[in-house]
Amino acid sequence: ATTLRGHADARGVRIGAAVADGPLRSEAAYTTVLDREFNSVTAENAMKWDALEPNRGSYNWGAADRLVDHATSHNQGVRGHTLVWYAQLPSWLKNGNFTAAQLNTILQNHISTTVGRYKGRIYAWDVVNEAFNEDGSMRSSVWQDKLGTAHIASALRWAHTADPAAKLYINDYNIEADNAKSDALYALARQLLAQGVPLHGVGFQSHFVLGGVPASMKANLKRFSDLGLEVSLTELDIRIPLPASGAELAQQSTDYKTASENCLGVPRCAGVTAWGLTDKHSWVPGTFSGYGAALPYNEGYGAKPAYTGLSNGL
Ligand code: XIL
Repeated sequence: ATTLRGHADARGVRIGAAVADGPLRSEAAYTTVLDREFNSVTAENAMKWDALEPNRGSYNWGAADRLVDHATSHNQGVRGHTLVWYAQLPSWLKNGNFTAAQLNTILQNHISTTVGRYKGRIYAWDVVNEAFNEDGSMRSSVWQDKLGTAHIASALRWAHTADPAAKLYINDYNIEADNAKSDALYALARQLLAQGVPLHGVGFQSHFVLGGVPASMKANLKRFSDLGLEVSLTELDIRIPLPASGAELAQQSTDYKTASENCLGVPRCAGVTAWGLTDKHSWVPGTFSGYGAALPYNEGYGAKPAYTGLSNGL
C-alpha cells in the first residue's frame, strides 16, 4: 500500500503533521513515520512568539531551525505557525503596557525578522491566528485592543514584503461550518481582497469531536475558494471520549475521510495537516479533559482505522 504522502504527491497536495521538538529530537519511531507519511510539517509550538523571543531582543531559533532543516533534508514543505495571535506571547510583551505606536513597531519587527529568516523555505504562513470570537466579533487581544482590525492588513503586508513567495493565511477554529464566525471571516476576507491586501488562504483548524464534521463544511470551504483563496485544513484532529471503543474508532475513520474530502473536493484546497501524528504526543488529553485518541496513529505508532480513512480521503 502506498503512503499518505504518496497519495498526496500524486494529487499535488500537502499532507502535513504538526511536529513537537521533543520527539523530533529523541524518538526514532516518530521521525520514521513523519518522514515516510508526510510531505509537510508545521511547528506545534516552536515558531510561536513565546518560543522565539522569550526575552525582548534575544531570539531562540533552535527548535524552529531544527524543524525547517529536518523538512529540507526530507523533502517536506513547511507551514509557518504563527505570527499574530493572542496566546503564547512572552510576558514582556503581554504585560509591557506598550502604546499603539510601539506595538505596531514591535509587530512589524517580529514579522520581518521571523518571515525574513525563513524566506523561501516556508510555503505558507498562518499570519493571523484565532482573531474572531464565536459570535463573529473581533477577539480581544493585545493587537486588537490597541491597533484595531487594521493590524491584520498591516501584518499581511509586512509578511508579504519579507517573503513574497509565501502564501499568507488567516487561520481559525470553529469556522468549518457556515456560522456567525465563518461569516465574519468571509466578510473580512472579501474586504481585504478588495483592498488589495496580500491574503492568499484561509486555514480551517478542524479540531473536531467524534461525529462532529459539520454538514455545511464543504459548501463553506467552497465559498472561500470562490473568492480565489486557497483553503487548507491546518490542525485536523478528531477527539473521542476515553476509552475509545472499536465502533468509535471506526466512526473516526469515516470522519477523517469526510473531513479530507470536504477540503480536497473544493477547488484550491492546498492540503490537509493533522495536529500531530500519534496519540502519544497529542495536545488533546491535556486540553479537553476525558478526551483523546484523536490522531491517525496510536500511542505505539500503530496505524489506526483513522489512518485508512485519511488515506482514502486523499
Ligand atoms: C497548541 C499546542 O498543540 C500545545 O502543545 C500548546 O500547549 C498550546 O497550543 N490552535 C492553534 C495551535 O492554533 O497553535 C494550538 O496548539 C492548538 C489550537
